[in-house]
Amino acid sequence: MTPEAKIDPTLNEPDMGHDYDGIRELDNKLPFWWQAIFYLTIIFSFGYWAYYHVLDIGPDQWQRYEAELARAEADAASRSAGKAELSDELLLAYSQDSAKVAAGQADYTTFCVPCHGANGEGGIGPNLTDPYWIHGAKPMEIHKIVSEGVATAGMPAWKSVLGDTRVEQVVAYVLTLKGKNVPGKEPQGEKVEE
Ligand code: HEC
Repeated sequence: MTPEAKIDPTLNEPDMGHDYDGIRELDNKLPFWWQAIFYLTIIFSFGYWAYYHVLDIGPDQWQRYEAELARAEADAASRSAGKAELSDELLLAYSQDSAKVAAGQADYTTFCVPCHGANGEGGIGPNLTDPYWIHGAKPMEIHKIVSEGVATAGMPAWKSVLGDTRVEQVVAYVLTLKGKNVPGKEPQGEKVEE
């Protein structure tokens, strides 16, 4: 089959007269939509060039990167500021927060029940529901014992196991046990009137 055999004279195509292995080069007019998009991209490029390079209005990659870093630093700062504010009041508020208390109860069931009993009545560890406390009954005092433990007395430190958030949650749950006076282990420590 010769290349000429493929040319369809009824199409009236503007043939450039180049033929490569049967592939002819034509010079068709480009569709209007195609040309419109093409010229629009050229117009757009002037605007883009002016916005980012000449007038310097738009942020470049470095400025965006630095803005992102600054935002991350501000986030970190506000997070640690939030932690530093941990207080009796905040822990008491957590003990009113059913989601935190439920999360704390789940960890209590897993980690604390063997020593403090299913209802906080005590066993190896002291009764957490009676008014007697060895290390103090204030939320921050309980938080300290749960975080740091009492190595000499067999109370583990939980901060390294559970992390800050879960320690706060389990303390929130322990605060809900306070004053329930579940019969169990005999009183230990000082009676705390609240
Ligand atoms: C291996 C046993 C054990 C486990 C597990 C344990 N505790 Fe204790 N806990 C103790 C002992 C023993 C003490 C008493 C420490 C002392 O005499 O100074 C104690 C003390 C405490 C106190 C202070 C009580 C007071 O009278 O001042 C709190 C609060 C407490 N534990 C909470 C927890 C929580 C919450 C968990 C789980 C995350 C937990 N404990 C897991 C053994 C344990």
